[in-house]
Amino acid sequence: PSEPAPVICIDGPTASGKGTIAAIVAERLGYHLLDSGSLYRITGLAASRAGIELTEANAQAIADLVSSKVITFLPDQQVLLDGDDISLDIRTEQAGMNASQVATFPAVRQALLQVQRNFCRLPGLVGDGRDMGTTIFPDAPLKVYLTASVQCRAERRYKQLISKGLSANMADLIADLEARDARDINRAASPLKPAQDALHWDNSDSTIDEAVQQVLTWWEQRQPFA
Ligand code: DC
Repeated sequence: PSEPAPVICIDGPTASGKGTIAAIVAERLGYHLLDSGSLYRITGLAASRAGIELTEANAQAIADLVSSKVITFLPDQQVLLDGDDISLDIRTEQAGMNASQVATFPAVRQALLQVQRNFCRLPGLVGDGRDMGTTIFPDAPLKVYLTASVQCRAERRYKQLISKGLSANMADLIADLEARDARDINRAASPLKPAQDALHWDNSDSTIDEAVQQVLTWWEQRQPFA
């Protein structure tokens, strides 16, 4: 059995900047990175492509489908589904909404539980998501809960989409974010909420660098893990 590796959890709502921050923190520390949202995005995409409607009645079929798939994570956020490059397909707003939908199904969350825990390898892991600290890695020595105002997050998402050559509209983005927050917070299975022992960081007015520095400082204070 492998030695248990230390985990830094970074949870928070969509477009709070946690993906970027988690990736930089992982790089600085030489740790592995788990972008758990991508797993729900992949699940939504796999189901849609298989012609399965994203309804509760199909939850087990969707969970079985994703369990049967070969998912490969390559450097630079490249993702393959049974060998097919879906890196861009999972980043659309629709893919995010579909992810949030399949993420409400307990069978899907169960199917992805061990997949996520398997990312925990030496020398350590940074896990980015909604329930890293509450459900997936409850014993993690550092849990960060990252928030930002809806306006900030919509602007961030707008820039992200445009820079990827995708289309975007602020009013639609704000409406989407609010709908997605409501769904992520109100679902019964592992809803978005800070772990009791999470440290909070409001990322509305801080730069990526400041947030990264704060997480690294918290991590240093967690010696002997760091
Ligand atoms: O972080 P993201 O936008 O890529 O996540 C997409 C959706 O996946 C999000 O709206 C809710 C779901 N999700 C989840 O339920 N649990 C996680 N740990 C990560 C994402």
